[in-house]
Amino acid sequence: MRTFIEGMPKAELHVHLEGTLEPEHIFALAQRNGIELEYKTPQDVIDAYDFHDLPSFLTIYYAAMGVLREEQDFYELAYRYFEKVAVENVLYVELFFDPQAHTSRGVGFATIIGGIHRAQSAAETNLGVKSNLIMCFLRDLSAESAMAHLEMALPYLDRIIGVGLDSDEKDNPPLKFAEVFKRAREHGLKLTMHCDVNQKDIGAHLWECLNDIQVDRIDHGVNALEDEAMCDEIAKRGLGLTVCPVSNRFVVQSLTATEIRAMLQKGMKATINSDDPAYFRAYMNENFIALQEEGDFSRDEIVQLSRNAFEVAWIDDAQKQIFLRALDDYVIDAA
Ligand code: HPA
Ligand code: ZN
Repeated sequence: MRTFIEGMPKAELHVHLEGTLEPEHIFALAQRNGIELEYKTPQDVIDAYDFHDLPSFLTIYYAAMGVLREEQDFYELAYRYFEKVAVENVLYVELFFDPQAHTSRGVGFATIIGGIHRAQSAAETNLGVKSNLIMCFLRDLSAESAMAHLEMALPYLDRIIGVGLDSDEKDNPPLKFAEVFKRAREHGLKLTMHCDVNQKDIGAHLWECLNDIQVDRIDHGVNALEDEAMCDEIAKRGLGLTVCPVSNRFVVQSLTATEIRAMLQKGMKATINSDDPAYFRAYMNENFIALQEEGDFSRDEIVQLSRNAFEVAWIDDAQKQIFLRALDDYVIDAA
């Protein structure tokens, strides 16, 4: 199964660019940009990764990304991620980025998006990895700040496929951003939002995503299983759920294999993703392999999870068919 998973064509739909910042790279960038770190070695950084909930992760995540300053920094960060996943047979990525976490430090929007876009082009040409970009708003900041960043993005709309909502979910419901997401939709952007595992008011947040925001996808969304009517609605709409098994383990001490299998059985389009692979120390293959082992998933179940990702990806039908054919051919060859 391990070899089968490693070679299987995959798509990743839930990965934060800033969550791919590896400890060695933090050090290299700190040195190049003349920034003093409170850690002595990359291993010291890893030793400090003591996450047990969303806030404890976010504190370290935002501190570390302070080393990203120049266009070249964003280019390198994104390109290194693409190099990693190219080896893992990831054919397509929808990549989140958090502009507010950089503009708040004086980094220009053009610097951020310029570096990322250059890496996307290089990855497609050199590595054969295609990608699209999703701009996330930080939900613990104001709706006004989110709206200002949507306006900053308008000259770059050809480089952004959709908008998302991340950061600290507690007391920051989807409805807080209803106006911003409505405006994003009017500009032709796709909509997704985090509904992180076991958050306060998670049931209400999920229903707001479905009924008020009318999202095109839900990030995480594992708690939907607590509501039969919600599961039916998600299945009926064919909405994708971007589940992140190793990330979940830091919150619920499980890879949520039982929940992911339940989603498949209910016809919900669950997908497997890494979320913040440098922090959770697991990229796509490690997520799939750990999940398969915990849940004793069959080959058919693993293939279904990969198929779901291509099916719910924000790409045109012709491209979708090319990816799905690559997956089908792989399964036939492996039989
Ligand atoms: N949830 C919320 N905010 C985030 C996450 C996440 O999984 N990763 C990076 N920022
Ligand atoms: Zn996430």
